[in-house]
Amino acid sequence: MITFLDLHKINDRFRSEFEDALQKSLDTSHFVLGKNVLHFQNEFARYCGTKHCIGVANGLDALTLILKGYIQLGKLKKGDKIIVPANTFIATILSVLHAGLEPVFVEPNPETYNLSADTVTKYLSKDVKALIVVHLYGQLADVLGLKKLAEANNLLLIEDAAQAHGAKDNSNNKAGNIGDAAAFSFYPSKNLGCLGDGGAVTTSDSELYEVIKLLSNYGSNKKYVNDIVGFNSRLDDIQASFLSIKLNTLDEDNRRRREIAREYLRDIDNPKIMISNHSQDENHVFYAFVVEVEDREEFSQYLTKNNIGWLIHYPIPPHKQKALSEYSNLSLPFTEQIHKRILSLPISPVMTEVEVKTVVEVVNRY
Ligand SMILES: Cc1ncc(COP(=O)(O)O)c(C=O)c1O
Repeated sequence: MITFLDLHKINDRFRSEFEDALQKSLDTSHFVLGKNVLHFQNEFARYCGTKHCIGVANGLDALTLILKGYIQLGKLKKGDKIIVPANTFIATILSVLHAGLEPVFVEPNPETYNLSADTVTKYLSKDVKALIVVHLYGQLADVLGLKKLAEANNLLLIEDAAQAHGAKDNSNNKAGNIGDAAAFSFYPSKNLGCLGDGGAVTTSDSELYEVIKLLSNYGSNKKYVNDIVGFNSRLDDIQASFLSIKLNTLDEDNRRRREIAREYLRDIDNPKIMISNHSQDENHVFYAFVVEVEDREEFSQYLTKNNIGWLIHYPIPPHKQKALSEYSNLSLPFTEQIHKRILSLPISPVMTEVEVKTVVEVVNRY
């Protein structure tokens, strides 16, 4: 069986380092906002090229805290409209709602499945104040175009980089250092994943950094003194120690993911399997390798029968989820079509060459 993602194998590479880190944490017993969080925040900010990083509890909180932070700073206010891609994980949209803002669902660019300047332009209005760009599947969106558009229209540019740790553009700017602020998830399946939940905000805006640091820790900089109405959303100290260990191999892992993707792109040759525009440069870190097929049900059953794991990112578009029923009448035909046809093939840094070739062979035989 080729599992979709072998988390055991991924993390087993670091087992003895994790055990040492856990021992150290037990010895110091500084479990909340200890040295490991500070160390990881510095390392991850350096890695992304930003001035600051704030560890938080998960990726959804990272997004929500960025928006709440801007509200606290007076740069956004309740009811402002925020552009989001219609084809994303629901967290992107939930963050907007949790912050009391209004999502504007935008169809993605049909070539990249990401937002681009031309797809966004027609949705701009005086009420739109920010733009959340998702680097879906690990591929950077049209960052140059979107940055220009954001600057020209005085919009905040927020990156949802939950799937794009380490992706970089042609000028070597990494995901997390492209917009005004970025949100990361360290959910176990991510390219940089911890052994539980975790997330971070990166930014070079020192004002935003200070306010998110406060918001994420009960609005408090000094124990039992609360300056603003905050939350409890902190990156766990033990998780931070694991993340620092795994950060050392992130680039190598991403390189291997790209290598596998190149092989899929070169060798999958089946008219029934369509592959959208996947960049082969470092601006794609292949969190997912997504193909499209007319009869997904049949194809997924075929893969299962042939012992190949698969997943769908994602089976139901956010605006068609029961939780977001007030948006269900929006006309988003391309988004709806994507969600019916996409399927993700296994891709991970621990896949063997034989496994990659088996996936290609089985897909070509379909
Ligand atoms: C695009 C995107 N945004 C946000 C999130 C939310 O992250 P988390 O699950 O850590 O809250 C995820 C991952 O789950 C994601 O893939």
